[in-house]
Amino acid sequence: MNSPAFSRAVLDWFAHSGRHHLPWQEQPNPYRVWVSEIMLQQTQVSTVIPYFQKFMQHYPDVHALASAPIDEVLHLWTGLGYYARARNLHRSAGIVSRDLGGEFPRTVEGLCALPGIGRSTAGAILSLGAGIRAPILDGNVKRVLCRYHAIPGWPDQPAVQKKLWVIAEEATPEQDFAAYTQAMMDLGATVCTRSKPACTSCPLQKGCQALAQGATKEFPHRKPAKAIPTRTTHMLMCCTASGSVLLEKRPPSGIWGGLWSFPEFADKQQIEEFCQQWLGMQKLQLESWPLVKHTFSHFHLQITPVHIVTQAQTDGVMEAERWLWYPLDQTVPVGLAAPVKELLRRLQE
Ligand code: ADE
Ligand code: SF4
Repeated sequence: MNSPAFSRAVLDWFAHSGRHHLPWQEQPNPYRVWVSEIMLQQTQVSTVIPYFQKFMQHYPDVHALASAPIDEVLHLWTGLGYYARARNLHRSAGIVSRDLGGEFPRTVEGLCALPGIGRSTAGAILSLGAGIRAPILDGNVKRVLCRYHAIPGWPDQPAVQKKLWVIAEEATPEQDFAAYTQAMMDLGATVCTRSKPACTSCPLQKGCQALAQGATKEFPHRKPAKAIPTRTTHMLMCCTASGSVLLEKRPPSGIWGGLWSFPEFADKQQIEEFCQQWLGMQKLQLESWPLVKHTFSHFHLQITPVHIVTQAQTDGVMEAERWLWYPLDQTVPVGLAAPVKELLRRLQE
């Protein structure tokens, strides 16, 4: 589809399937659209509606908001979260009310100079609230455009952003840009959704490249997980003939802080030394189990579980707060590290 056909299809769809009675669509002006867009940045429509209405009752215009005490503004914001949004709103209101004579800037650049307003929010304020054509590119619109054009890469890559802004600009019609802007948000929110796009009811199915490739779910591409290092460790599962296994309490900070785990060693030689020195074991029969992998936010941990059976349950001079003979046939109410839980389950079998 060319641009006019694209926007025509979106607008036709909007006429019957768009959202038409949202409170910020009534008597739209830059102030009302601005407040709604900021509220909607991290919060869904149904949550925002009552907050928006209460906000407008208290602060019907930018001067009212500018002269309100910040504590009152934050109080009205309670429950919406991301309070930096409310602080920026209040600061920007002060600038518009006092420095700009109550008039919002009428350009993207001018709006972007205000705290908390980015390029897409600026576009929405202009096109929805000021009758000035300007493209938007929020998360919903990015997803629709990435799919429709089967754009490779992930949306926050600078090169992809740049491409998307060009496409968004070209796709925005000369007329009806307010309806078009709202329509694109609605399409992304209700049809071209993140996990289950409803392509059969989508006005863009004819030209959609992702759909043609049968790859709607692959777009937009996800940012590849950053490479994280792999660490290795050996966990000693020292079991007694009577069915207990030795656990060690981890230091209070760091991974699994304060939880119980198997004693860890760098290699098998260290395990042998430990068993001889602390558990008084002579003949050692170490049995390595298959590797267990566990991923933390900043590294993968590759665990070699090493199983060994000891005749006696020796405590030697080991401190009781740090060592525990855990009976395998009972559940002891102590915190266990995640892979330890799983290994204990296998030991119990
Ligand atoms: N999300 C962001 N802006 C919106 C709007 N104007 N309507 C519905 N959802 C939105
Ligand atoms: Fe999204 Fe499907 Fe429409 Fe393409 S056809 S824009 S994937 S809903």
